[in-house]
Amino acid sequence: MSMRDAYAKAAQLDAVDPLASQRAHFDIPEGTLYFDGNSLGPLTFQSREALHHTIEYEWRERLIRSWNETWLQMPSRVGNAIAPLIGADANTVICADNTSINLSKALHAAVALRPGRTEIVVDINNFPTDIYIAQSVATQHGLTLVAVAADEIVGAISSRTAVVTATHVDYRSARILDAVGITSAAHQNGALMVWDLAHTAGAVPFHAGQLNTDFAVGCGYKYLNGGPGAPAFIYVAPRLLEEAGQPLQGWWGHAEPFEFEVDYRPAPGISRFLTGTANVLSMKSLEASLDVFSGVTMTQIREKSMALTSFFVELFDQFLAPKGFTLGSPRDPVQRGSHVALGFAGGKALVESMAEQGVIADFRPPDLMRFGFAPLYNSYADVVKLAEHLANH
Ligand SMILES: Cc1ncc(COP(=O)(O)O)c(C=O)c1O
Repeated sequence: MSMRDAYAKAAQLDAVDPLASQRAHFDIPEGTLYFDGNSLGPLTFQSREALHHTIEYEWRERLIRSWNETWLQMPSRVGNAIAPLIGADANTVICADNTSINLSKALHAAVALRPGRTEIVVDINNFPTDIYIAQSVATQHGLTLVAVAADEIVGAISSRTAVVTATHVDYRSARILDAVGITSAAHQNGALMVWDLAHTAGAVPFHAGQLNTDFAVGCGYKYLNGGPGAPAFIYVAPRLLEEAGQPLQGWWGHAEPFEFEVDYRPAPGISRFLTGTANVLSMKSLEASLDVFSGVTMTQIREKSMALTSFFVELFDQFLAPKGFTLGSPRDPVQRGSHVALGFAGGKALVESMAEQGVIADFRPPDLMRFGFAPLYNSYADVVKLAEHLANH
């Protein structure tokens, strides 16, 4: 296949792409090719409008009345908008804090539900914050942290394990971990499971309810496009909602926050996983950006994501492997999330020089370039343009 053939093939695929019209929701600067939705989703027109409305009307005009009119219920509204994207029932997801803090809350809650157990099992290749949080939870509870490679997680789980935590889609390689196998190994040993869905939510289907995971957490600013610093979410299995406590007891998680009682009484259900005041502007932006998922199914998103990354791998084989690039992601699309990692000795400098030309990707040490392919705004033609830039570097 020549580059010309690749463009022709892309044009055919774009012409029949059922998600092609979603691109119009994103305000990506003219001339920019964006492949970093795995790190920061781009601005949607919906978010811009919602932020403007929130500032000009809800804040400026309605002032404190907006708490009752719209802001107080926002964490649960946004949680309920995220729920179907991760296969969760209504009222089992709440929007709050960031992923690190939600992971900390989930791990503390899980450990408290398994008294007498002595270990936390974590994927050693997990995103560093997940490991740091697990280390701190282990230290505070006097537990041992068992950090092992993804393929060794199942074997490391035992009757000593209180909780297992791993990231569903590996942040470097985009490898999808075996959610069913790892969750059932945890449960067979009486342990609890916490999944990090940072690179999953909005890009790869997840079935929190069907999987019966105990907890899940994830980001609002990657494939959910909520904007820089957008709040995160936490899922708790319905069967644990009344039982699980959370370590950061605050007034937003109280059963009656406006009674201002001296003693803490947890709110019923998922609301107890709130702590303090919501970041209204960020959450409004996220609430609005989630609108781009209405009328679109996660199956459609997954199909296009696999097709985009597979097309890129095809072009990699043809044009990039001969130039010294190596594939750092699974070749099988079923095992691959929505980004593709390429190894390249001069990868960092190349990512930087491409950014100057408006082709934006990112780099993770020691040598991995990451290219996120977001089905809602990346086209097949974008994929060819990227391959061409890399081939001509
Ligand atoms: C797997 C994973 N977990 C968590 C985070 C970040 O968490 P936080 O929202 O606390 O910054 C990232 C960020 O890239 C991530 O890739």
